[in-house]
Amino acid sequence: MVERDGSAAGRGEWRNRAGFVLAAAGSAIGLGNIWRFPSETARNGGAAFLVVYLACVALVGVPVMLAELSIGRRTRRNPVGAFMMLRPRTAWPLLGGLGVLTGIAILSFYSVVAGWTIGYLLKAVRGDFSTVEKASHAESFFRQAVGNGHWNLLLHGLFLALTVFIVVGGIKKGIELASRIMMPVLLVLLLGLVFFSISLEGSGSGLSFYLKPHWSDITPQVVVAAMGQAFFSLSLGMGAMITYGSYLNRKENLLSSACLVAGMDTLIAFLAGLAIFPAFAAAGANLEGLEGGAGLIFVVLPTIFSSIPFQPIGGILFGGAFFLLLSLAALTSTISLLEVGVSWAVDELRWTRLKASILLGLAAFMLGIPSAFANGGSRLFSGKHWLGMNFMDAMAMIFITYSLTVGAWLICIFAGWVWGTKAAAEEVRAGCENVSLVRAWTVLVRYLCPLAIAIILAVIYFRPGVIPT
Ligand code: PHE
Repeated sequence: MVERDGSAAGRGEWRNRAGFVLAAAGSAIGLGNIWRFPSETARNGGAAFLVVYLACVALVGVPVMLAELSIGRRTRRNPVGAFMMLRPRTAWPLLGGLGVLTGIAILSFYSVVAGWTIGYLLKAVRGDFSTVEKASHAESFFRQAVGNGHWNLLLHGLFLALTVFIVVGGIKKGIELASRIMMPVLLVLLLGLVFFSISLEGSGSGLSFYLKPHWSDITPQVVVAAMGQAFFSLSLGMGAMITYGSYLNRKENLLSSACLVAGMDTLIAFLAGLAIFPAFAAAGANLEGLEGGAGLIFVVLPTIFSSIPFQPIGGILFGGAFFLLLSLAALTSTISLLEVGVSWAVDELRWTRLKASILLGLAAFMLGIPSAFANGGSRLFSGKHWLGMNFMDAMAMIFITYSLTVGAWLICIFAGWVWGTKAAAEEVRAGCENVSLVRAWTVLVRYLCPLAIAIILAVIYFRPGVIPT
C-alpha cells in the first residue's frame, strides 16, 4: 500500500471523488452527531444552541476544513510530515504531533462509548427494549449497562479490534468501501425514526424546545460548547482532514467537497435531534431541566423503541437496526482517528501499516481502560476526582474542548498567515473554478476564523466556569 520511501504514488488514493466524500463524511458522521450533539443541545438550552452551532459550522467549520484539506493534498503527507514539508525546521510539525496524540486520546474514550452501542445492539436483538417503556426504567437500564466495567472493557477492546482490522486494509479496500455502504443506510433509518418520533402524542413541546430559539439563552457557555462540538463533529483540529486530503488527487474540487461533507454531517446531527427531542417530550420528560450527559440517547432511544407498535418485533427490528448503524457510523469515525497516527507512523517512522495499526490501537486500548470504568465501574475513575468530573468526561474536556479548539486555531494561523493564503488559495483553486468563493474563503481563514476562535479560547481561559463540570 505505502512504498518504503513514502512516495506519494505508493501511499494509496481514493478511488474517486465519491469515495473520498463518503469516507470524509464517514469520519465526520459518528457518535458526535447522534450521541454528543443531542446531549450538548439539551445541556445548552435547545434551539439557541442549534442556531449558534449552525453559524459555527458555516463560518468557521467549513473554512477550517478547507484549510486542512488543502494542506493535506498539497503535501500528500500525514499531519506531522505535512508541516515539516511546508515549514521545515520550525515548531509547526509539533502541531501535527498534537493531532496524532489527540487522535489516539479521543479514540481511547470514543471506542468505549462505541462499545456501548454494540452492547445496546445485543440488548435490542435480545428483545430487551420491548419491555423498557418508561424513561425512568430506561435510566436504570442504562446505569446498569454502563456500570459494568469489565463488560465495557471487553466491548471497548472489540471495537478497537474492528477498527484496526479495517485500517490495516488501507485506503480503497478498507476505509472507502466501509463508508460507501454504511452511510446511506444510516440516513434512511434515521429518517424513519424522525417520522415515528414526531408522530408520537405529546411530541410538540420537544419540537419547540429544539426549533424555537429564545435569544436570551445564547450565553458564552453556549457559544463555547457549539464551537467545540462543531470541530468535533466535523473531525477538525487534529489533522484528520489533512490526512484524508493527502489521499486526494488534484483534479477534485476541494471547496465543494468540504461543503458537501459539512452539509451531510450537519444534516445527520439535525435529524438526530429531530428524532430525540420529540420522543423525549412524548415520554413525558421535562426538557427545560434536561441535563444532557453521556446517557441521553441511551436513555431516550429505548423508550422510543419500546413504544413502536408490534412488540417485541418492533423493538427488536428498529432498535437492532439503529444500534447496528450507529456502531457502523462510529466505526467510520474511529477509523479516521486511528488513521492519523497510522499515516504518521508509516510515513515518518517507516513502520508497516500492519505494525502501526496494531501498536497504536493497543495504545488507545490501554489509555481507554480508565474510561471503561468511569461510568460506575470503579469508584476511582467514576468519582469526580478528575478536574471535578469523572475520568471520561475529563478526557473529553481536555481533548475535545481544549485540544481541538487550539488545533483548529493554529491551523487557521498557519494557512492564513504562515503558509499564506496565496499558496493555500492556489491549492484550493486546483479543481475549482469559482474564484470569488475562493477569495471569500481566504478572508475567512485569515481574519474571521482566527479571531472567532481566539475569542472562544480567551473566554475559556478567563472564565473557566463556561465549561460545565
Ligand atoms: N467527527 C467524529 C464524530 O462526530 C469524531 C471525530 C473527531 C473523528 C475528530 C475524527 C476526528 O463522531
